[in-house]
Amino acid sequence: MFKIGIVEKIDNTGLKLFDNHSNFKYEIVENVSKDNLIKVLPKYDGLTLRVAKLDTEILSHCKKLKVISRHGVGYDNIDLNYIKKNNISLLITATANAVAVAEHAMYMILSLSKGITSYDKAVRSGEFKKNVSQIETYELYNKEILIAGFGRIGKNLIKKCKGFEMKVNIYDPFVDDETIKSLGGNKVQNLSSAVKTADFISIHIPLNNETKNLIDINMLNKMKKNAIIINTSRGGVINEKDLDKALKEKIIFGAGLDVFEKEPPDLNNPLLKNEKALLSPHSSSFTNECKKRMSVETVQNIIDFFENKTKPYMIVKL
Ligand SMILES: NC(=O)c1ccc[n+]([C@@H]2O[C@H](COP(=O)([O-])OP(=O)(O)OC[C@H]3O[C@@H](n4cnc5c(N)ncnc54)[C@H](O)[C@@H]3O)[C@@H](O)[C@H]2O)c1
Repeated sequence: MFKIGIVEKIDNTGLKLFDNHSNFKYEIVENVSKDNLIKVLPKYDGLTLRVAKLDTEILSHCKKLKVISRHGVGYDNIDLNYIKKNNISLLITATANAVAVAEHAMYMILSLSKGITSYDKAVRSGEFKKNVSQIETYELYNKEILIAGFGRIGKNLIKKCKGFEMKVNIYDPFVDDETIKSLGGNKVQNLSSAVKTADFISIHIPLNNETKNLIDINMLNKMKKNAIIINTSRGGVINEKDLDKALKEKIIFGAGLDVFEKEPPDLNNPLLKNEKALLSPHSSSFTNECKKRMSVETVQNIIDFFENKTKPYMIVKL
């Protein structure tokens, strides 16, 4: 019998898969305070994990743990050195998220460039036409977008951009020119020169020591005044203080953020009051369809792991 801890509830569709596997017993762990995780996690052979943090201290109590199955594709909430050293496998929902996140990035691009929030406010406040012509809006047609990170999500987003007849530059040192060309993009070698001509910049790279604060005030200062930057990857890739300044000082036009340096952000985070920022609560993969796909892949990955049937593309190579 394998004991599985479902750390934070996931959609029932996935949990139902356990009904056909009598050798698994699962429990839902809702209290993700450090003290509680140290107390309850040691009994599990496998864990599913949403956004709770598994640091060295918590993991060092999990002596039976063989596998962590992330409900998602990012894994910056796990101490990777520890799990690598202790032979704990890490699995992700590799085919579940890309469509939903790419659609969310495109929604933010459209919403910001079309002034959706301001127009909506104008109609509701009775200012149907008054001052509305002062609201700046932009077209996507013929504009240049820079997609930073050309993995699952970046490769999905490019299809949407091509539909809007945009020119697409790709910054991803780990993806070859041919792959990028075959999907209609143009590979750029240097991020700081590529941001100079981009009308839109969409970030799809993981957060790690190299990418932390990748977009800081120096980078923002190089961007066009009409530039709109979208981050649906991880908070911390863009320096929030610098971004707030760049928006307030009209160095760039707008920003769409699904992710934050600290989640949830403090209520006194200036970006929460910045009208040039469009915000969402780390929710880009929370479409009804994607929640189901993620829960199914998360649980299937656990079952496959203990039945020695893990799909290679679900494994994170540490
Ligand atoms: N907001 C959300 O709910 C949500 C959902 C899913 C994924 N994400 C985040 O989005 C990120 C991208 O997801 P994905 O599934 O496309 O990942 P992926 O691993 O398929 O792609 C990431 C790409 O980034 C590239 N990359 C790595 N370091 C880079 C660097 N320094 N500069 C440029 N490119 C670099 C890699 O070569 C890779 O092609 C994930 O790291 C995850 O944290 C967020």
